[in-house]
Amino acid sequence: MPSLDQALRAALAARENLLGELHAQSTDCYRLFHGSQEGAPGLTVDRYGPQLLVQSFHQPLEASDLHSIVSNVETYLGQPLLLVYNDRSKGNSRIDRDPALFQADDAALEDLVGREWGLNYRVRGRHAGQDPLLFLDLRNARGWVKANSAGKSVLNLFAYTCGVGLCAAAGGAREVTNLDFAQGNLVVGRENGALNPELPTMQFIQSDYFPAIRQWADLPISSRRGQKLPNYPRLQPRQFDLVFLDPPAWAKSAFGTVDLLRDYQSLLKPALLATAEGGTLVCCNNLAKVEMSEWRAQVLRCAEKLGRPVQDCQVIAPAPDFPSHDARPPLKTLILQL
Ligand SMILES: C[S@@+](CC[C@H](N)C(=O)[O-])C[C@H]1O[C@@H](n2cnc3c(N)ncnc32)[C@H](O)[C@@H]1O
Repeated sequence: MPSLDQALRAALAARENLLGELHAQSTDCYRLFHGSQEGAPGLTVDRYGPQLLVQSFHQPLEASDLHSIVSNVETYLGQPLLLVYNDRSKGNSRIDRDPALFQADDAALEDLVGREWGLNYRVRGRHAGQDPLLFLDLRNARGWVKANSAGKSVLNLFAYTCGVGLCAAAGGAREVTNLDFAQGNLVVGRENGALNPELPTMQFIQSDYFPAIRQWADLPISSRRGQKLPNYPRLQPRQFDLVFLDPPAWAKSAFGTVDLLRDYQSLLKPALLATAEGGTLVCCNNLAKVEMSEWRAQVLRCAEKLGRPVQDCQVIAPAPDFPSHDARPPLKTLILQL
């Protein structure tokens, strides 16, 4: 088994060409070390613009390993970065658990800006949520949206911090609607909009997925066992030219359960109905244990049964900063032409 130092050097060397391409396209947010595939399961090292974000998921790092990561990366990139180390192996990852091991500088915890596909994104090393504000494995899908949104009405479902919506706006979309039930995530989405003042403004809808998509799809909203439903925004039935569906692996609300393993159809069906004839639905499944071939077959079958057969189906794979030696990346993305 190679040492962490050796594994990290190999990972950096393997990214030589990719980083050249990313820098040329104004991207400075990427994964530098993907531990599960590159020799240290439970460890990730990401660059977010001026920040270096190290995260451990299984056990805390030794101080010597943390120092070795920083010096290897800074030497390789030829510039200093602001280090944030979040140990996610125990409950709260938003603190310096062992100040003797590491204490983040104030400058590293300030609001920073990272770039991807020429757009600015808010970077915050610690915030109310656990995950960074931009999911890096979705970069290629965001790039596809930017290249394929001109003149379209775009709906970004489970929008999080609205990166997909921002790419649609930058790609010339006629209108962009971002939907998420978490107000805090949409606030960051608005910040991302403000960080790119040359772009047209986007719409933000704070709502649970199920009532919103079912209204757009002109389907009834049913309560479970006759229970009274919480309030939800009223929306008119309509369709969008490009719909992007990237749900979390599992989430439960009063309106329904998001379950990417057992019930993708409940998410997919109304999203298909809310996509215009001749339009495009991009859908994702980030659950590692779901096989691409089985999921794709399920998606195509569901569209067929609904009378919205898929005319063409393409895959968007994550970029090589998320290597996958068995060619089965956890994040699977399909472009469905309807
Ligand atoms: C995996 S993230 C989606 C990532 C996002 N598509 C992106 O581009 O980065 C999951 C998001 O779904 C939202 N969410 C989870 N359950 C939801 C529900 N029932 N209705 C609306 N939003 C939901 C969360 O607030 C979170 O922002």
